Amino acid sequence: KRTIYLVRHGESEFNVQGRIGGDSDLSENGIEFARQLALFVNALQKPKMKVWTSWMARAIQTTKYINGVQERWKALNEIDSGACDGMTYAEIQEKFPEDFKERDWDKFSYRYHRGESYEDLIARLEPVIMELERQETVFVVAHQAVIRCLLGYYLETSEEELPWLDVPLHTVVKLEPVAYGCKVQHIRFPV
Ligand code: F6P
Repeated sequence: KRTIYLVRHGESEFNVQGRIGGDSDLSENGIEFARQLALFVNALQKPKMKVWTSWMARAIQTTKYINGVQERWKALNEIDSGACDGMTYAEIQEKFPEDFKERDWDKFSYRYHRGESYEDLIARLEPVIMELERQETVFVVAHQAVIRCLLGYYLETSEEELPWLDVPLHTVVKLEPVAYGCKVQHIRFPV
């Protein structure tokens, strides 16, 4: 049966510091998640399953212990936060108060200076989605905004709600397309 698994990378050093963007490594917790995730994935016994990650260090480190060949997609990299890259939300609010308000008001359309919006991200993900649709079972390891967009596509979430979808760390979202819509299951890991 066709199944799509979506998960964020394990907790990163930047997640711990509350900083967005960057290309930091996994924290100790994140490494523990990578170990647990590999036990889960390696036991799935889906011979045709593909594992896809972004090109970011934290995503690649998350699949380090998973057996088999993997594919990397630049298109799966996290939303480009441009001028705000590496900042905390408090720092953004202080330095760019107007932008902070604007993003809160229309998070879907707000584009970071020299960066991207959720709308841009969806356009960037189009080839990934097209290829996903042609595959059997795929395990996607990516990032918060990217997973929101993929999830929003399968759940037909409105543009208004999509950027606010709850996608916690260390939780695999299992999607099984059924006759009308999609069966969704959340698998939370104990880390
Ligand atoms: O904080 C982790 C993170 O992946 C950032 O790198 C990214 O900018 C952010 O989440 C996206 O979430 P939001 O759109 O809610 O800021």
